[in-house]
Amino acid sequence: MGITAMIRPTFHMSGIKKENGERMDNKFKKTILCIGAGYVGGPTMAMIAHKCPQYKVNVVDINPERIDQWNSDNLPIYEPGLHEIVVSARGINLFFSTDVEKGIKESDIIFVSVNTPTKTFGVGAGMAADLQYWEKTARQIRKYSDSPKIIVEKSTLPVKTAQAMERILTAKGKSVHFEVLSNPEFLAEGTAIKDLETPDRILVGSNETPEGLKAREELVKIYAEWIPRDRIVTSNIWSSELSKLVANAFLAQRISSVNAISRLCEKTDADINEVSYAIGMDSRIGNKFLNASVGFGGSCFQKDILNLVYLCRGYGLTEVADYWESVVRINDHQKESFVLNMLTAMFNTLAEKRICLLGFAFKADTGDTRETPALYIAKQLLEENAELVISDPKALENAKKDLKGVNGKITYLEDPYEAASGSHAVAIVTEWEEYRNLNYDKIYSSMQKPAFLFDGRNVVDHEKLYQIGFNVYPIGKPALTHF
Ligand code: UDX
Ligand code: ADP
Repeated sequence: MGITAMIRPTFHMSGIKKENGERMDNKFKKTILCIGAGYVGGPTMAMIAHKCPQYKVNVVDINPERIDQWNSDNLPIYEPGLHEIVVSARGINLFFSTDVEKGIKESDIIFVSVNTPTKTFGVGAGMAADLQYWEKTARQIRKYSDSPKIIVEKSTLPVKTAQAMERILTAKGKSVHFEVLSNPEFLAEGTAIKDLETPDRILVGSNETPEGLKAREELVKIYAEWIPRDRIVTSNIWSSELSKLVANAFLAQRISSVNAISRLCEKTDADINEVSYAIGMDSRIGNKFLNASVGFGGSCFQKDILNLVYLCRGYGLTEVADYWESVVRINDHQKESFVLNMLTAMFNTLAEKRICLLGFAFKADTGDTRETPALYIAKQLLEENAELVISDPKALENAKKDLKGVNGKITYLEDPYEAASGSHAVAIVTEWEEYRNLNYDKIYSSMQKPAFLFDGRNVVDHEKLYQIGFNVYPIGKPALTHF
């Protein structure tokens, strides 16, 4: 089913619309607030508002520019199908603003989805989660609340954060009752709307006290508006928090496993696609997340594994921590090998060679570049004094920000043909659909010779490109060269 087909016109409520779009009537059953209008908060709240006309959904963020974009036609994130969902509810029961205080005061249920990046300073730097935004939010909730609230932990957080949240909220001097729930988000970028519309499961963790169970039911009721009950799983808070980290660690582990084997395939006559296909047919293994690549990226995988590692080390589980950390190490190795392969193939020098990166986002269908392998690759190529041309249909603005201040010659061109023209090598870093079917004859004739193509995502027809004249270097298969 296409995304547009999935989006039904939702509801038509009566009531007079004020000029600013807010309804004057008070027909809403409950008011939901989401603090943090990012990749998680924005799409999730848009879906809840779209599916639950009886709830008013306010989304606040400290970043006024982001809020202005949510209120415009130019949304701050690119996500297929998101625009239609936002438009269907915005100004009716979905509102974006910077007024955190008002938002907190009028809400019954507060979702917290502020950013929790990996710490870059102090104890646990490079590994533990940086909880400064999260803790500020907890203190704001405590300060402005004058009625009981359900607090829903949506950001991915270290296990036991809900307990810390509870402690801040209920510290002496505040009589308002807060019930903290954990409701981890499993949506993946690029498919967020589909994942929200038909999730594999929704997980709600709560205290197992009467108040906790009551709050849990309140949240379950919201999701049950469109998700079958048997897909809504409930558990205690710790299981819920840990499940999020473990799900991401398992997914990332599959990619690191297949990427590790891809290196072996490159040295032998095995083909990683054939191996992946063969093992994926084993129903115990399954066929998803077995695409060998230049390495995984994104805001979650590395961060969550490192969180898990930090947690295990904290409990003295050194071997367990080392086991999971190796998933990240293999990923780093995969990115390093890709660049090394380019260097070796191109006669051990990249100085002043023009290299075109096709794709900069960490995966297709998103403009997000957090932890993208492309950034590592770009920096390494610049270290080798290569001249970079970066192309991506959605991520060029983020690429510019990421590479700001980095020394070297970089050009940004959205058109892949212009980007490839005159280059010695093209490296496909993101699996954008359009890269599969470019006119590679045209690209080949516009390039310097010998022309190299490094396919970091195994998305093109390697044999065909070899026939055109390219020297082709896939992932996990022997190279096809004319030398
Ligand atoms: C992930 C989880 O999938 C999601 O459930 C969680 O909520 C957040 O983290 P996301 O980071 O958006 O989602 O993207 P995902 O589709 O999981 O891909 C992560 C990275 O792995 C991307 O760089 C992708 O290109 C790479 N990948 C994925 C592979 O290299 N090979 C694969 O087979 C699958
Ligand atoms: P994620 O991928 O987890 O959604 P993002 O970085 O996309 O992460 O979004 C997190 C959002 O949270 C950002 O837009 C940021 O401005 C916002 N934010 C951080 N701290 C606060 C706060 N105290 N109050 C409101 N919004 C906040």
